[in-house]
Amino acid sequence: MVLCSNELTVYSTGAKHQGATSQHYSPTKVMCLKITYTYFLESSRIILVPDKGVGVSAVIMDGKAISKEIQTEIAQEVAQFIEQSGITPCLAAVLVGDDPASEVYVRNKHRACERVGITSQMHKLPASTTQEELLTLISQLNSAHDVHGILIQLPLPEGIDTLLVLDAVDPQKDVDAFHPENVGLISQGRPRFLPCTPHGVQQILDRCGIEMSGKHAVIVGRSDIVGKPMSMLFTARNSTRGPQAANATVTLCHSRTQNLAEICRSADVIVAAIGVAKFITAEMVKPGAVVVDVGINRTDEGLCGDVDFDAVREVAGHITPVPGGVGPLTVTMLMYNTLDAAKLFAGM
Ligand code: GUN
Repeated sequence: MVLCSNELTVYSTGAKHQGATSQHYSPTKVMCLKITYTYFLESSRIILVPDKGVGVSAVIMDGKAISKEIQTEIAQEVAQFIEQSGITPCLAAVLVGDDPASEVYVRNKHRACERVGITSQMHKLPASTTQEELLTLISQLNSAHDVHGILIQLPLPEGIDTLLVLDAVDPQKDVDAFHPENVGLISQGRPRFLPCTPHGVQQILDRCGIEMSGKHAVIVGRSDIVGKPMSMLFTARNSTRGPQAANATVTLCHSRTQNLAEICRSADVIVAAIGVAKFITAEMVKPGAVVVDVGINRTDEGLCGDVDFDAVREVAGHITPVPGGVGPLTVTMLMYNTLDAAKLFAGM
């Protein structure tokens, strides 16, 4: 190793840097490719962050391809279920108001249903819909024998009590896993339904060969939809993919967390779900770490995630893009839950 003013130059083994962690850059593994790192001291340890544009590039975890793969599996299972039970799974989506982003999400869900052989109902209500009218519709859907999953697209218009509405959904049809009964079951490690986005993250990681067991996962963002349930899935003893996709040590960070950058740098896996564009910078990522970006932010430059992708991809070992990362999985895992809801209805 050669130390110069504020740079540490490391001679590394060569072409393949994907997935490398700092210990791979030991002085005994030398030659071939010269990489310049910025280094700094933290708790008596030297932290190396490769400078931009030095050829270190993370493996891109292709959520779109993984989503397709899972949809193919679900379509086969749906066909088998229909043959065995004579029941076609059905998802009822409820959209209140005319939020353009929500309309796109609901349309994507409808298309995904078509692809996997699930029937879908779309209940589009005007923004002027009262809470009582919405609760009446939910009550009807709860009683409908041909509806197995109910999805209330969020956000709901102002003036409607979101928690009250979500609590009104029959827990057996709650394919978002938002009902307190289902959240309680998840927290006890005996889930009825799995929250779609965290389950999608778990699927991506495991299908990309990332072992979670014993690893330090740092989740940035404590929302009820992503951050909190993600922490429960990672800390569980088992998962739909086996124990290797769970059993992590989790730190759940949020807007009030002190030393956030330092905590992130100690992570083997970072899940960014804070809702702030490019919040996770290269300096917050340990070389070789896995970075999952759940953010979808609409900026002047277009759609971007919670991770500064261009910079972080040069430090991380694996990274999800936005778009084409976690997003497609959320919809797919909703299909997974709707099939499970139909199985529940059929007593299977
Ligand atoms: N709005 C944003 N994300 C979600 C989600 O996962 N489920 C529902 N129902 N609405 C959302």
